[in-house]
Amino acid sequence: MAKSPFLEGNFAPVEREIAVDDLVVVGELPRELDGLFVRNGPNPQFAPLGRYHWLDGDGMLHAVRIEGGRASYRNRWIRTRGLDLERKRGRALWTGLLERRQFDNPEGSIKNTANTGLVFHGGRLLALHEQGEPYEIALPSLETLGVHTFGRRLRHPLTPHPKIDPVSKEMFAFGYSPVAKPHLQYSVFAADGALAHSTAIEIPIGVSMHDFAITERFAVFMNHPYTFDVRRWLRGEPIARFEPERGSYLGVLPRRGSGGDARWFAVAPCFVQHVVNAWEDGEQIVVDVVHSATHDPAADLEPGDAPPQPTRLWRWRIDPRDGSVREQQLDDQNAELPSVNSARVGRRARYAFASRFRTDVRLPLADGLLKYDFEDGCSSRLHSFGANRNGGEGVFVARPGARDEDDGWLLAFVHDEVEGESELLIADARDFGAPPVARVRLPQRVPYGFHGLWLSRADLEHRL
Ligand SMILES: [Fe+2]
Repeated sequence: MAKSPFLEGNFAPVEREIAVDDLVVVGELPRELDGLFVRNGPNPQFAPLGRYHWLDGDGMLHAVRIEGGRASYRNRWIRTRGLDLERKRGRALWTGLLERRQFDNPEGSIKNTANTGLVFHGGRLLALHEQGEPYEIALPSLETLGVHTFGRRLRHPLTPHPKIDPVSKEMFAFGYSPVAKPHLQYSVFAADGALAHSTAIEIPIGVSMHDFAITERFAVFMNHPYTFDVRRWLRGEPIARFEPERGSYLGVLPRRGSGGDARWFAVAPCFVQHVVNAWEDGEQIVVDVVHSATHDPAADLEPGDAPPQPTRLWRWRIDPRDGSVREQQLDDQNAELPSVNSARVGRRARYAFASRFRTDVRLPLADGLLKYDFEDGCSSRLHSFGANRNGGEGVFVARPGARDEDDGWLLAFVHDEVEGESELLIADARDFGAPPVARVRLPQRVPYGFHGLWLSRADLEHRL
């Protein structure tokens, strides 16, 4: 395989699909914890054509079923159309992000690996990729059922970060197109999963847009000047470039509005990958994100060659009455992969969670989980993974019947670089600095990856 830091160590893919019951548990699994933790991430099956980017690999799901104090593990590749074709030919057929895109590839210029996000809505588990349609995944087998097009009504790729309203259970999502118009499209899905509303939103040029926010009345989009222009490619330059002179804008649209209803608010030029949460404070709209003042495309395109750019907890307070946005850095730690209790999405939350990423290495490795308390001066607590142990996203799971917002656990895959072994960590979200409640020893290495999800027993038993 081509040399890449993302094909080495615990970024390297695993080769086996396995299922193992009765895993060794250090500590004690809470009896109320009954469900399935699933995480998506890249796991290339074939040697890449040219240089490899972390985002290129075929999607693989790693899942731990927890029930009655016991745990079992299963991993499965996501059988995308692209992976099936490559298996038939026995080799990679698509170049990745670091190579020139194959506009002449008869199978399409982009391989939808479904490797980035996951959402469970309308009784379906969907694996998501920024540049393609979602793939439906069977439960609990994790077998791929195929592309889900919402009855052929979905007209755009689906962001890896849809938002589900905790009360109405509607899902909100967008998709962007780097080159072709419309560059931004947005859809609303009814609680049963049916596509209910779709609209195109006009923006001047294709930009990288990974996440967005909802409040009780609005959807909030982030138009940052990390732009795509095919003419750069024709000149032999990278297609993407950070152009701070174009400015950054927040677009506020009524949830069921048409694209023309969007109102844009200028903020200082920046780049934001992930949203923490958003909420309405009277007429004002508060959006919390993890923020970087600049975005160096070289860091994005040649990971490992440039130092990581820190991202910090940041608040925008939009006042639609005078068009102003107040900006405030809330913390100085390098935080990414943020979240709140899913019952607080679009509402004011007291707590936020994130992963603390290391600044002493060039690779995206988190050394612990952060818990922010907005009502305590935005103080933070750290749950450290321990020496020589790295991980990624923490997923909050509320304790059944919980009254307090932080009553539950954070689940995350952690890898011990010395032992070469992986675990599922279960940390008490209230007693955050305490040692883990339980550590589930996994029967094979779980490579570092992207986004995860918790499915409760009720979710698993959901039938349409
Ligand atoms: Fe993401």
